[in-house]
Amino acid sequence: MSVDALFRPHTIGTLAVPNRVVMAPLTRARADVDHVPTPLQGEYYAQRADAGLIVAEATAVDPLGMGWHRAPGIWTDEMVLAWKGVTDRVHEVGGRIYCQLWHMGRLVLPDYLGGELPLGPSAVAGEGETMAPPPDDYTGGFLPMKPYVVPRAMTQADIDRVVASYGAAAANALAAGFDGVEVHGANGYVIDQFLQSRTNLRTDAYGGSIENRVRLLDEVVGAVVAQVDPGRVGLRISPTSERKGMGDVDPAALTEAVGALAQRHGLAYLHLIEPIASGFVDKPDYPVMKHLRATFAGTVVQNGSFDAQTAADHIARGEVDAVSFGRPYIANPDLVTRFREGRPLATPDFDYAYVGEEKGYTDYPTWASSAG
Ligand SMILES: Cc1cc2nc3c(=O)[nH]c(=O)nc-3n(C[C@H](O)[C@H](O)[C@H](O)COP(=O)(O)O)c2cc1C
Repeated sequence: MSVDALFRPHTIGTLAVPNRVVMAPLTRARADVDHVPTPLQGEYYAQRADAGLIVAEATAVDPLGMGWHRAPGIWTDEMVLAWKGVTDRVHEVGGRIYCQLWHMGRLVLPDYLGGELPLGPSAVAGEGETMAPPPDDYTGGFLPMKPYVVPRAMTQADIDRVVASYGAAAANALAAGFDGVEVHGANGYVIDQFLQSRTNLRTDAYGGSIENRVRLLDEVVGAVVAQVDPGRVGLRISPTSERKGMGDVDPAALTEAVGALAQRHGLAYLHLIEPIASGFVDKPDYPVMKHLRATFAGTVVQNGSFDAQTAADHIARGEVDAVSFGRPYIANPDLVTRFREGRPLATPDFDYAYVGEEKGYTDYPTWASSAG
């Protein structure tokens, strides 16, 4: 079966892309310990620049939303300047790169906040554990794990700060040379925490009805499109994922509401994590893709356990406009070329997914260089 549908050009909002293969955002923790991006990240993304669009790794909008050792931020001038070095590298080789704007909300460990509690919609802890900062005698390798804590329920001032941080970060992303931004509304981070009924127990204007639960997202998107042309703004969601203690009473209705919100703001694309096969995220019992299409007329990018064939089939049938690939991009910098030429994919070494330097990051060869 042909995979030609992957290589049809498309326009995402106002961005022309040469193919339908999107690089999904991947946190790889190669910024410095102060969350400032490094030249190594520029090399990594430039290697992957034949993607139709690169959505760069989750990038914190505010230190209060940052709980990941060596993940990047975009709230200082120094960070903006360093990101400019990264986007320049990508543009030099003809690529397109968006910044994924991120606030972790309740999933930040107090260790990253000088002992303060993280912020969440309600005093409900995330399920599971996450990487703590390195101990003083750390010499590399895996980081210690700690359980998530019960967050402090956000006040109106906390909410206003999150919204303002997103707006400022969007402006910073443009200053840093990104071609656009993606609002991270997925994977159990703060926006998702407000969206989903299991984590949002608020009784004020931000909780209860779906209309209220989408309010934070509405304000965040409003702040972002005040800075960036909505034709260059995307939104990522994972309404059927229950990882980290997420869950919603009616993901289909929530999805329709988010689609309508995106439509109202004129967003370029929605990026839905809804696996077609079990993998990193479980395959949902009740897929919500059709609910997104019901209310949103823009580009839809789907993600989750696709390969070239399943992605091309979904695009050819018109179910989605593009497909993003996460794990396949770790070990295959030339993923688009491999798809085009029908080459086998290299297997990533997950020991280096979230820690390290060049090894397991920028040292994966292209097919052409490994075969030749
Ligand atoms: C190492 C790693 C880091 C990730 N970091 C992010 C991230 O920063 N932002 C995000 O939205 N998703 C992140 N994800 C999820 C991926 O974008 C993607 O949804 C997931 O890998 C499933 O897609 P795949 O089957 O193509 O790998 C990450 C996944 C992995 C494996």
